[in-house]
Amino acid sequence: MAKMASASPKFFYNALGSRIFEAITALDEYYPTRTEAGIFQAAAGQIAGALADQGLGRPCLIDLGAGNCAKALSLMPVIKPRQYVPVDISADFLRDAAGQVQNGFPMLDIVAVGMDFSAGLVLPGEVQPDQRVYFYPGSSLGNFQPAQALEFLRRMADPAQGKARGLLLGIDLVKDPATLEAAYDDALGVTAAFNKNLLRNVNGLLAADFDVRQWRHVALFNAGQSRIEMHLEALSDLTVRWPGHARQFFKGERIHTESSYKYTTESMTVLLEKAGFRQIRHWTDPDQWFAVFWAAI
Ligand code: AVJ
Repeated sequence: MAKMASASPKFFYNALGSRIFEAITALDEYYPTRTEAGIFQAAAGQIAGALADQGLGRPCLIDLGAGNCAKALSLMPVIKPRQYVPVDISADFLRDAAGQVQNGFPMLDIVAVGMDFSAGLVLPGEVQPDQRVYFYPGSSLGNFQPAQALEFLRRMADPAQGKARGLLLGIDLVKDPATLEAAYDDALGVTAAFNKNLLRNVNGLLAADFDVRQWRHVALFNAGQSRIEMHLEALSDLTVRWPGHARQFFKGERIHTESSYKYTTESMTVLLEKAGFRQIRHWTDPDQWFAVFWAAI
């Protein structure tokens, strides 16, 4: 049997995919975005205090996976950055969003970086090396396998990279499978469209001929691995072609398109300590569905 097919979740984010993701964040079933926003709001004063304690009064705010920049915008009064560095793989979408931020904050130094940082973050020389606050909200860290997440966090904690640095991190927490699965398989089918749009993006990138109608969206919680998995399942036997290649899929065969790991506040604290962060605190919502971590070196 052929190896199970998989695609990196970064392929969700073409211009349409970024817009569909925006729609996901407005769904009733998709609790992470609004829950995280509530925690930011409730903890704003304490977050500002934690930054000040660390000498990060006017930091460089590096927004990883900035998307529409909405989350950073809501935290501008709390973080008061000297420099704002939104980074996103969806470069055109980011350029528009960063332009909007600049309109709202004409004096702010903004360096927008359109790049894929899944294999490592390389920032341009204009980005200040000291007083960095990495902002990684929305539980996007959950797309990495835990070992890769550790590597990624290690590089952010590395004091050799500059003085005074901290990380403001949003992490989705383990909860009952029904709530988790509904968040990734909503009644309107928006997440299904998000998942299938990956095939269209791949068609564009590889000149492949995936027919979106031949695939079905699947979302399931894998408790053993503590992760939501999204798959695309072939509705019939079919063949996909791209220059120089043909790949046959059998009915029921799946392409694994995303893993979204869910942590506990304890397991994330351990991971941050392993990565080299020394001062770690977190805030959660009353249901303990989501956590915001502050970690400094
Ligand atoms: C952007 C990776 C945090 O895993 O919840 C939303 C992406 N996938 N619905 C997540 C996503 C399906 C999202 N992250």
